[in-house]
Amino acid sequence: MPGELATATCRVCDGNVHEFLDLGRQPLSDAFREPDSDATEFFFRLAVGRCESCTMVQLTESVPREKMFHEEYPYHSSGSAVMREHFAGTARRFLATELAVPDPFIVEMGCNDGVMLSTIQRAGVRHLGFEPSGRVAEVARAAGVRVRTAFFEDSTAAQVREAEGPAQVIFAANTMCHIPYPDSIFRGVDALLAPDGVFVFEDPYLGDLVAKTSFDQIYDEHFFLFSAHSVRAMAEHYGFELVDVERLPVHGGEIRYTLARAGRRTPSAAVADLLAEEDARGLSGMATLRGFAASVMRVRDDLVELLRRLRTDGSRVVAYGATAKSATVTNFCDIGPELVSYVCDSTPAKQHRLTPGKHIPVRPPTAFRDPYPDYALLFAWNHADEIMANEEEFRRSGGRWISYVPNVRVL
Ligand code: SAM
Ligand code: TMP
Ligand code: ZN
Repeated sequence: MPGELATATCRVCDGNVHEFLDLGRQPLSDAFREPDSDATEFFFRLAVGRCESCTMVQLTESVPREKMFHEEYPYHSSGSAVMREHFAGTARRFLATELAVPDPFIVEMGCNDGVMLSTIQRAGVRHLGFEPSGRVAEVARAAGVRVRTAFFEDSTAAQVREAEGPAQVIFAANTMCHIPYPDSIFRGVDALLAPDGVFVFEDPYLGDLVAKTSFDQIYDEHFFLFSAHSVRAMAEHYGFELVDVERLPVHGGEIRYTLARAGRRTPSAAVADLLAEEDARGLSGMATLRGFAASVMRVRDDLVELLRRLRTDGSRVVAYGATAKSATVTNFCDIGPELVSYVCDSTPAKQHRLTPGKHIPVRPPTAFRDPYPDYALLFAWNHADEIMANEEEFRRSGGRWISYVPNVRVL
């Protein structure tokens, strides 16, 4: 962009990345701290930019993968009933389509606790999950899922191709956007995928981030924020083609992208439709992204003002869902235990620890009822229906939810 300095180099095409949002000094979003720990916390600068060549929206600084994905990684995908059903449906669809061939084979990167592959395993279909985070990989293994505790990349994928033959499907959910080394991933996919196979991945959609000002989707693990335009460019860069897109309601709005080797499949009408929709709204334009950044500042100011007013009024405010997303909210907005007394979360690995950076205590959901607070700030807003249904009694007892997506309001 004329007159502007590039702040980073695009991880896909080596183009110039121009920053449009700076979310400041941030910790690792999933590093829940022991209360008595005196270990130094890791911080980095969380800023987002857009590549002037391929439009890919990406962080300008990346965190080494071993700092994020390791034995202690606390996120368990099966923690939500809605997500369990979503992935069981995903597996059933693959079984009825791409895997309805003789001796099918599916590989998943980031299989976590086996939320998707357990359905494949029960159907008796050959599969392999790659999951570098040891504890969640062990949960998948205990459910009978075949897991390799390793990062999917060019070398590990090539080993699997050698030992087990080609895969009809390579799948990744909420994992491709975590990976700032797509060159190695695509070399691995190229080695392992059958000639007519599909590489399918689903991740939070830039279009939903902008529409909902959901800036909390930006954190260390979410290195890329994909759109149909940027994924198409990425696919082409590596010799693949974007052949289908599907909007998904989960995690605040995602897209499932289907890629095939270039020229092997006819792209669906949905691809052209979504590209046209993105063009019409100027989604990949710098003006839209700067407008998004301005909205983020407004949400921050409104949220901090509301929480300070509630504190002055003497209201009891807690939060619900110690999400990775909430690390961005609490650290960017400077929200600590003085504004939000504690966060409830159903994940044992997060409970009785402190949130990264702002050190808000995490308690089990039983603490929520004992007694109910006046207000609950919904950090897990993407699971709103499920959580509000489970916690119906809170509202009946006079409690009120606070949301900040798409704007700050008391529900
Ligand atoms: N697929 C699950 C879902 O959608 O709920 C898990 C998503 S979780 C946010 C991302 C997972 O990707 C983590 O379990 C992490 O350990 C794993 N991961 C990160 N980099 C990876 C890589 N290169 N290969 C395989 N898994 C990876
Ligand atoms: P996610 O938004 O990254 O999926 O994280 C959701 C977090 O919220 C995770 O730590 C589990 C927690 N959670 C609850 O505490 N109760 C619930 O009912 C649900 C669905 C999630
Ligand atoms: Zn680029």
